Amino acid sequence: MKLTSVVRALTALASLCSAAATTKAVSASVTFDNNRRFLFDTDGRQIDAYGSKVNNFNGKYYLYGNSFSETGVAFGIKSYSSVDLVNWQYEGFLFDPAGNNNPCAASGGCGRPHILYNSITKTYVLWANAGAPGYAVATSNSPTGPFVFSAARALIDPAFDDLNPADFTVEIIDGTGYIVFSALNFKDPNAGNVWPPIFQNMHVSKLTADFMNTTRVSYPVRSSANDLIDNEAESPDIFKQGNNFYVAASNTCGYCNGSIALLYRSTSIQGPWTRQILEGYSCNGQVEGVLPLTNPTTGAVTNVWHSTTVPGGPRTGFGGHIFQPLTFNPDGSAKNLDCASTASFPVSFTKGNGTTAAGNATKAGDATPALAVYSPVCDSDSFILYQTWTAAKSGTLKSVSLNVARGSQTVPLSLTVFKLSSVNDLFTPEYKWTALGTASFNANQTTYTFDTVTVPVTANATVTKGEVLGLFIQGADYSPWCHMEFDTTSGCGFRLFQQGQGQYSWRGLQGKSPPVYERQGKSVKFFAAYA
Ligand SMILES: *[C@@H]1O[C@H](CO)[C@@H](O)[C@H](O)[C@H]1NC(C)=O
Ligand SMILES: *[C@@H]1O[C@H](CO)[C@@H](O)[C@H](O)[C@H]1NC(C)=O
Ligand SMILES: *[C@@H]1O[C@H](CO)[C@@H](O)[C@H](O)[C@H]1NC(C)=O
Ligand SMILES: *[C@@H]1O[C@H](CO)[C@@H](O)[C@H](O)[C@H]1NC(C)=O
Ligand SMILES: *[C@@H]1O[C@H](CO)[C@@H](O)[C@H](O)[C@H]1NC(C)=O
Ligand SMILES: *[C@@H]1O[C@H](CO)[C@@H](O)[C@H](O)[C@H]1NC(C)=O
Repeated sequence: MKLTSVVRALTALASLCSAAATTKAVSASVTFDNNRRFLFDTDGRQIDAYGSKVNNFNGKYYLYGNSFSETGVAFGIKSYSSVDLVNWQYEGFLFDPAGNNNPCAASGGCGRPHILYNSITKTYVLWANAGAPGYAVATSNSPTGPFVFSAARALIDPAFDDLNPADFTVEIIDGTGYIVFSALNFKDPNAGNVWPPIFQNMHVSKLTADFMNTTRVSYPVRSSANDLIDNEAESPDIFKQGNNFYVAASNTCGYCNGSIALLYRSTSIQGPWTRQILEGYSCNGQVEGVLPLTNPTTGAVTNVWHSTTVPGGPRTGFGGHIFQPLTFNPDGSAKNLDCASTASFPVSFTKGNGTTAAGNATKAGDATPALAVYSPVCDSDSFILYQTWTAAKSGTLKSVSLNVARGSQTVPLSLTVFKLSSVNDLFTPEYKWTALGTASFNANQTTYTFDTVTVPVTANATVTKGEVLGLFIQGADYSPWCHMEFDTTSGCGFRLFQQGQGQYSWRGLQGKSPPVYERQGKSVKFFAAYA
């Protein structure tokens, strides 16, 4: 090479470097723990995406998973986007789950959705578990859809043609696509009456270059024990760190309250695999994915293990998600998960580009904290509730939104926004509040997860900072409505009062105890919007 071309090349390199410097990745930090299990979008609704996977596409984070809100079982796939892993914007369904052009009515329900980006065709490829053979695949030119399903199926190793394709993951590692899938065997003569009802073994294959199919050649992911733990493995994810491929998985469980946390490692996808049990109950969860986060300063990648958590059973929608970074030993093994309620896991990562998502809840004038530890409470069959708070500012109140989840109610949920002179008014017989707005909701206007219902303020909307406002919540039925509560410290203005259903008179031996009394240290999740 002539000297002039060397200089020209170096100059080109330098300008590349300075161009890179101007778009330098921004470092951010997020702290995970084992207690805050419910995530919410910026409009205050529970994130409704189970068996979720978080991807970084084009410098932004996307969370995907099956929706349980509309039917109570997996129905379609929702997506959310975030730049800071804290504020999540709802991006809608990836395709219309009620439409005819999807295979989701088949067993699996389009479960365990995973998306890959094909940088050559600039196409996002969605894989979903829906019937047989193999897996359903769909494509879109946007990470949030709409996705269009291919008539052709992605087919797996023909050795498993007799079994049911089940939980799986697809991932790109060093430019090559991989699938890890478990094949359900309902025909094994060793199946028990009590357990296990089925056997399932995990296998890994490479994908075709377009990421739309598998090469149909597979290798087992199992340890030398080849025991019932290897033979009941599901919900896999795959990643590589150093020279090792890792497969995270759980045992047969189905969004349960705690399953074995499994981590397999091998320097080759052909094995042999070394197995670890990282926790006996996965901190009361089932692993759903592993999220790689890159520290832009050091370039170090933290692999964050995340799980769908309690309670399990039919109310999958009452579970949440927990996250914690994996830490590794020099031999490539990982340390056990830390399930302590006091554990806290700060992780530095590359902030997504774009602005931090904002919505009705994050912009609300009065709101219970977005990052509190919320729990479902279902007791409208027993109690009328009065949630009170003090107006944070003077202005015009527009609406109040409450998180509620339905069961099979026949009686509507009734809500009234009101104003008091003091909370003592609730204990005073014959007191009349100032009503600001009222609304009622039938079960079909609510969902099986903690979406919001909104009461418009239609009268007396002008409020003064420090005034006591409240929300009356009533919905007595055989099947209670559910709301969310968090532990409230005194002095923050939020207080919750309860009245037993049917109790409208003085109580107690002296006849001086009002039927309304405080639910000490608790508040319901809500927000109030100002004009
Ligand atoms: C966001 O960042 C990615 C790289 O991380 C880049 O390719 C993309 O062009 C960026 N998008 C915008 C809108 O800045
Ligand atoms: C996958 O490959 C098989 C042939 O091995 C083919 O029958 C099938 O249509 C392909 N599916 C897709 C989505 O390309
Ligand atoms: C979940 O499992 C744990 C044991 O890991 C147990 O302590 C807890 O009570 C269980 N919760 C439910 C809702 O089953
Ligand atoms: C947000 O608030 C606006 C204005 O009140 C309302 O029209 C819209 O439906 C709300 N969005 C959600 C998702 O609640
Ligand atoms: C919703 O439920 C109410 C009360 O059960 C019923 O009157 C109404 O027709 C239902 N609406 C729809 C759209 O199903
Ligand atoms: C509240 O609004 C109602 C209906 O507009 C009105 O009759 C009532 O006087 C108002 N109360 C107060 C205290 O402003």
